[in-house]
Amino acid sequence: MNIIVTGASRSIGRELVKKFSQAGHTVIAIARSEKELFNLRESCNSNGNKGKVIPFPFDLSKLAENMEIFKAEIHKHFKHLNIIINNAGYLANSSFENSGIEIIHKSFSVNYVAALLIIQATLPLLKISKKAHVVNIGSMGGVQGSLKFSGLSVYSSSKAALAVLTECLAEEYKETSIAFNHLALGAVQTEMLAEAFPGYQAPVSADEMADYICDFALNGDKLFNGKIIPVSLSTP
Ligand SMILES: NC(=O)c1ccc[n+]([C@@H]2O[C@H](COP(=O)([O-])OP(=O)(O)OC[C@H]3O[C@@H](n4cnc5c(N)ncnc54)[C@H](OP(=O)(O)O)[C@@H]3O)[C@@H](O)[C@H]2O)c1
Repeated sequence: MNIIVTGASRSIGRELVKKFSQAGHTVIAIARSEKELFNLRESCNSNGNKGKVIPFPFDLSKLAENMEIFKAEIHKHFKHLNIIINNAGYLANSSFENSGIEIIHKSFSVNYVAALLIIQATLPLLKISKKAHVVNIGSMGGVQGSLKFSGLSVYSSSKAALAVLTECLAEEYKETSIAFNHLALGAVQTEMLAEAFPGYQAPVSADEMADYICDFALNGDKLFNGKIIPVSLSTP
């Protein structure tokens, strides 16, 4: 299958690329850190993985202004697309009154606008696939009625926007072969979590979470569409 994973340079995204390539799929791996992406490809190749990893160093916060470059790279490798995992994320643990326009812009451009634009830009490739599944990675903080944390108002509301977008797209494209789902993650031990909540030990590793997301991306579209699914032993 042809797959796009964003946020592939570390943590959950990196583990996802390893798993998909181990299973023989072709993955375009997107993040800003070029070196990490090429290391990831090297590690997948030296592990003997059957699939292909295509590193695509790209800043998703600047996707709107670089859309033609983005589309050209995707079309260079894929004639159809089966799975998108919109996993890249930006979290600033910052009080509401100290969250300036830079934090607001970066949070929404990476966590929401980039995911929306990637889906929009790749729709023709998704539509011609017999099976297509878009999996948006959200957060428990972005789920209505969940426990909220001070310092995460901008981050959590950007994830909430992504959750509602997922529901809307499932409705708008229900007559097509594309399924759209949103996984609202609880705490996972990654660099993001360590930076946001120093000292907190999450009950789930990036590898364990990637196992679940990988399986869900490959099989969840048979049973779910337009769902916001909490994947959490605990919050945050
Ligand atoms: N860890 C948790 O406890 C937790 C809980 C709930 C939800 N989540 C969500 O799960 C997803 C993965 O989280 P994580 O903990 O694995 O995060 P992470 O360790 O911070 O990794 C984030 C990834 O996103 C990429 N990224 C960030 N900004 C980018 C940009 N402007 N352009 C391209 N790529 C960018 C980073 O790569 P570069 O820096 O190389 O660009 C990195 O590969 C995120 O959406 C996060 O919000 C995580």
